[in-house]
Amino acid sequence: MYKIAVIPGDGTGPEVVREGCKVLEASSKKHNVKLQFTKFDISGEKYLKTGEVLSDSLINELRQFDVIYFGAIGHPGVKPGILERGVLLKLRFELDQYINLRPVKLYPNVYTPIKGKNPEDIDFVVVRENTEGLYTGTGGIFKKDTPDEVAIQTSVNTRKGVERCLRFAYEYARKRNKMKKLTLCGKTNVLTYAFDLWERAFNEIGEKDYPDIKRDYVHVDAMTLYMIECPEKYDVVVTDNMFGDIITDLGAVIQGGLGIAAGGNINPAGLSMFEPIGGTAPLFTGKNQINPLAAIGAGGMMMDFLGEAEMAKSIENAIMKVTPKMKSMRAAEMGFSTSEVGDMVAEAVK
Ligand code: IPM
Ligand code: MN
Repeated sequence: MYKIAVIPGDGTGPEVVREGCKVLEASSKKHNVKLQFTKFDISGEKYLKTGEVLSDSLINELRQFDVIYFGAIGHPGVKPGILERGVLLKLRFELDQYINLRPVKLYPNVYTPIKGKNPEDIDFVVVRENTEGLYTGTGGIFKKDTPDEVAIQTSVNTRKGVERCLRFAYEYARKRNKMKKLTLCGKTNVLTYAFDLWERAFNEIGEKDYPDIKRDYVHVDAMTLYMIECPEKYDVVVTDNMFGDIITDLGAVIQGGLGIAAGGNINPAGLSMFEPIGGTAPLFTGKNQINPLAAIGAGGMMMDFLGEAEMAKSIENAIMKVTPKMKSMRAAEMGFSTSEVGDMVAEAVK
């Protein structure tokens, strides 16, 4: 039995998580796996009522679970940064989820804005470092609100943090067994300290422990160009936190949009968290119009992480049976409601 902490969060989070749980339930029955869902109210709504974002005692409570299933966080009434740092980043950092795994995969009959590209051309995985870089909050503001104001925000790259991320990416490329290629996405021509460390570690580890994996390097600016021009060149891409954030939004759009893009915040030896990578979509909140496939896909990734590979595969296959029936991956344009899409996937997993 797996104990799953469910954090639906804000906006459309609860709607998509509801459909994700529906599909997980259906699939678990078929595969004889027991799932126990426990809901936690961690949201902007709650913050506005109580002033509490995410307490340490709540984090400790979460530690008793096998995995976290997360919807979305963000509230129009809360200043940007409070919930992002206070909930999502706090969970990633406190639980040391040092990998953000984001597959970029175009499913059958899903619209990609890149002309002439098909599912066989768009199928790679981004391994984003998830606990360091520009995200650590290292820095500060000096002489605030004066003409001499200085703002410094430092990218932190530790040998340990970089190395564990690279090793995960190498292992992933090996296990994936497709092109057996790992691309480091960086900026060695300008960030000559940070990416010097990344590049040295990348080559040292690759040479010593992963001679079977081809090594490839690309500057991040060129990466945004190649992801459009020749996405078929990529298999597994590893990069730092900030670049990974940026290129995976681009990745989401070429795989059909945020409605379908799923990801996992992974601590391979600890508590991980799976989420649709899109946000709270306030425009569509409560309308039963949002696309739940990203959340459903995240549920599949979660089962794969828990070691239920067959269940994961069958959820992905079910998604691929449903995408050709949908008019679009965009909210309100799917040709179906949120719950209807969830029903169709749940039916297909049975
Ligand atoms: C993401 C999001 C987050 C990030 C925000 C909400 C803090 O954009 O998961 O990609 O920047 O990592
Ligand atoms: Mn992002």
